[in-house]
Amino acid sequence: MQKSWALHLLAVLAKATSVAAAPPSPRAQACTSSFDPITASAAFAALNPGWNAGNTLDGIPNEDSWGNSPLQLATLTQIQAKGFNSVRIPVTWAYHFDDESPTWNVNKVWMNRVETVVDQALSLGLSVVLNVHHDSWVWADPSVSNANTTMIKEKFSRLWAQIGTRFACKSSKLIFEPLNEPAGSEKAHADLVNNLNGLFLEAINQAGGHNPSRVVSLSGLGMSMDKTEMWFVRPTTYPNQPWGLQFHYYSPYDFIFSAWGKTIWGSDEDKAAVDQEFALFKGNFTNIPAFVGEWDASVTSTETAGRWKYFDYFIRTCNKYGYSSIIWDNGGDFYNRNAAALYDPATGDILVNAVKGISNTLADSTEDASATSQTSSAYIFHKFGDPVVAQSTDYLLNGNTFKSITNSAGKALDSSQYSMSSTGKLTLSATYLQTLYTSEAAAGTKETLTLKFSAGASLSLQIVQYSTPTISQSAFKIDTSTDLHIPITYQGLPKVAAVKALLEDGTYLADDWTQYLGPLQQARWTYGSWGFDKSTFSIYVSGLTALKNAGKTVTLTLEFFPRIQGQNSVNITFTQ
Ligand SMILES: *[C@@H]1O[C@H](CO)[C@@H](O)[C@H](O)[C@H]1NC(C)=O
Ligand SMILES: *[C@@H]1O[C@H](CO)[C@@H](O)[C@H](O)[C@H]1NC(C)=O
Ligand SMILES: *[C@@H]1O[C@H](CO)[C@@H](O)[C@H](O)[C@H]1NC(C)=O
Repeated sequence: MQKSWALHLLAVLAKATSVAAAPPSPRAQACTSSFDPITASAAFAALNPGWNAGNTLDGIPNEDSWGNSPLQLATLTQIQAKGFNSVRIPVTWAYHFDDESPTWNVNKVWMNRVETVVDQALSLGLSVVLNVHHDSWVWADPSVSNANTTMIKEKFSRLWAQIGTRFACKSSKLIFEPLNEPAGSEKAHADLVNNLNGLFLEAINQAGGHNPSRVVSLSGLGMSMDKTEMWFVRPTTYPNQPWGLQFHYYSPYDFIFSAWGKTIWGSDEDKAAVDQEFALFKGNFTNIPAFVGEWDASVTSTETAGRWKYFDYFIRTCNKYGYSSIIWDNGGDFYNRNAAALYDPATGDILVNAVKGISNTLADSTEDASATSQTSSAYIFHKFGDPVVAQSTDYLLNGNTFKSITNSAGKALDSSQYSMSSTGKLTLSATYLQTLYTSEAAAGTKETLTLKFSAGASLSLQIVQYSTPTISQSAFKIDTSTDLHIPITYQGLPKVAAVKALLEDGTYLADDWTQYLGPLQQARWTYGSWGFDKSTFSIYVSGLTALKNAGKTVTLTLEFFPRIQGQNSVNITFTQ
């Protein structure tokens, strides 16, 4: 009697506690380490600004599979010295399970490796966001035709039970993020994300340790702002878990991904579009702490002055709405881990100054989408063979005053070489420029000057002598069997700015609607069908297939910086 009554009571208690709070479980552990409880808003504020160790532990299948060496403590130290206060460590766990259902044991060597990196970051005092990353499209994608959501939930719970157990006693500077950019497009997929968020909370709480007080970063479908606004519902379990939202921001798509010739950014409309997206998110989640877990405008693919403006405005918008941000870095376009240097120091300098609310001087540049040419004060361009005259470039001082201008050897220019007006117009004298632009000199960047101002970022100014690049062959018969790589010899900046694609009858190869865009965007073909590196222009099989399907002769016009409609471009013709 007595015994069975006691068992009944235990069963009732177990049932009650499993809904309301962390039930005791065989896995739950006690910690000897201390833990400073922190609110989600304080923890998120402490992230700012942050850096993603991208394409590293999230690589498939291994840490070094995507072109980066294993992450070094030294890199974290350097990133911190550059002014970053947190690191998001994306980890793809797929390919690191020792067995299958139902145990899904994570390989011990892998778990140890992840713990080593987390411990290194925490030892420096950095805040850390640890996640489950590309698993979202490897085994946790509910939108594929043969998706097994039962398996997804089981495996996800088992994975978080193991991560939750291993990291249960880490400090409150460690934040858990259940799943990067959960895949899918419709409400059913969003419902699964809400469900997985609940399973995640259950798994980490059952693992015990400090987890019940640990800040977690939940998200909606895709970590997109609008899908989160539409469908995110926070699980009602574990109401005392400190939490907030994470979203990712790669907008506007065309500027960030070099689509449709959008190399210009910074108009009032461009800025209003960013502000509007943040306003809607804030409107939906007024009292919920949130941060931007990924964003970027890549140094390799965006125009420099436009990028500087974007970085400055993006961060100031984050400040306005109270969101921290963590920049995405694939290792090839923000911080050069091997050289221990930013690929474009001004970009990083603008970011960290803007986070502090310090005014940055910016390079002026074309903002008007109806322009037929694009200027950029990140560069001074001189066309090979043109007479050498004084050249000017404009800065948006933003309340700062000019301090100094030095050349790449660190020597200050003297007053006969330049003048700077109080409104930010820099003029380099003809006699100075004549020392750089000589008829013997090969095209390319002749000098990089550094400008310092009373506050904020220092800016670089590249002095470039250019002529139109040459390609090894300009007529091809379309062959869709393999990517086409065409050697290119740049004669200035080593970049393809845009590609215009016209059929012989003058119609567009793709995206007819671009006729409503400005002259520098009409008929421009999307990056991704084509690409480039420092010596090659490539058209991928997908792009070649589009050329084939056009059924007519197609002319591609490759455009370079400076962009001038009808100039500084080369044509490549493709016949069927
Ligand atoms: C789905 O996954 C569950 C759990 O792993 C498994 O028991 C079930 O057989 C799977 N269903 C199918 C159709 O594969
Ligand atoms: C919430 O988001 C939706 C969808 O984006 C938007 O239509 C709505 O205006 C937002 N609400 C507020 C109060 O901002
Ligand atoms: C390149 O092709 C375009 C049509 O696509 C044409 O208007 C232009 O004149 C061509 N340029 C040269 C240098 O042949």
